[in-house]
Amino acid sequence: MNQYKILVLPGDGIGPEIVNEGLELLKQIELTDNCSFDISEELVGGAAIDAYGKAIKDETIEIAKNADAVLWGAVGGPKWDDPSSPIRPEQGLLKIRSELNLWANLRPVKIWGELINASSIKKEKLENVDILVIRELISGAYFGKPQERREKNGKREAVDTIYYNEDQIANVAHLGFQLALKRKGKLHSVDKANVLESSRLWREVVHEIQPSYKDVQFQDILVDAATMHLIRQPSDFDVIIASNLFGDIITDEASMLSGSLGMLPSASLSNLSEEGKGIGLYEPIHGSAPDIAGQGIANPIAMFLCIAMMFRYSLNQETIASKIENSVEKVIGLGLRTKDISIDSDNPVSTKEMAKAIIAEYKKL
Ligand code: IPM
Ligand code: MG
Repeated sequence: MNQYKILVLPGDGIGPEIVNEGLELLKQIELTDNCSFDISEELVGGAAIDAYGKAIKDETIEIAKNADAVLWGAVGGPKWDDPSSPIRPEQGLLKIRSELNLWANLRPVKIWGELINASSIKKEKLENVDILVIRELISGAYFGKPQERREKNGKREAVDTIYYNEDQIANVAHLGFQLALKRKGKLHSVDKANVLESSRLWREVVHEIQPSYKDVQFQDILVDAATMHLIRQPSDFDVIIASNLFGDIITDEASMLSGSLGMLPSASLSNLSEEGKGIGLYEPIHGSAPDIAGQGIANPIAMFLCIAMMFRYSLNQETIASKIENSVEKVIGLGLRTKDISIDSDNPVSTKEMAKAIIAEYKKL
């Protein structure tokens, strides 16, 4: 019997709704796959601000450090949106990423066969689209110092800093080349080297590493051109590496290829040198979606695919990971659609109905 410690952090908005369905899936896996889960749950984001005055407790980070994996729902909402507030829900997410040293954020973007019609991009453009974005997650514009608001001559001003050192860049580059070798063998490195010094260092370091991976077809691409090309010819991409801020932006854009943000999982990892090593945090790319929270209509698929990634990268159980992905594929094939992925002719199902259908398929495999 494999025993795993999982920390569950539902957060705000639709976070708890989709995490609950994820827990239902884990219950099914306990029944059929010789695993048992020791699950603890803590408040994060706005919920933690309301309860404790901060977006994540230090104790929660300690529990995470001792867990095999962390499942994160979503944080944020209008209640905590005051830009002048020094305490914000997102701080909880940034803090746990940084304290667990989760530098590698893997964001796969694939087109789920029959969902091709839900995308706003023409069908012909989407054939063969299968992209993996690797986003650097604990440095760059998100963490560089100074990051502050100040006053000069009676006027307000603000500064953020994009910081990278060569080791941080090299880690991402090696991972990008290595994962490209296991896929279609193509790597694009996204930067803004024509303007930013940190991007010029990024490019320099990636170029130093490139000769060790002769079998990878490599190309630099400026971030503005990359965003354009992602829409014009998305099938040209295989693996993409990007800094924290650029990676954040292009993955939201890329999610539209697959039809909905509600379909995209992500894994944040500290060590991928040998698969299955190191703690991972798994979170859907979609946010807390306060506009639809509490209605039971959120798409649980990104959360299910997060759980699949958790089995793949943290728990070393590839069979379970593929079974989850196949169940999702099956249910999409059967025509079930939550509102976000439905087109006019569909009759959308609820969060629970979608989750139940996927779990029922899982049971059959
Ligand atoms: C993401 C989100 C977060 C980020 C927010 C919620 C801080 O947009 O994971 O992409 O910018 O990293
Ligand atoms: Mg984002």
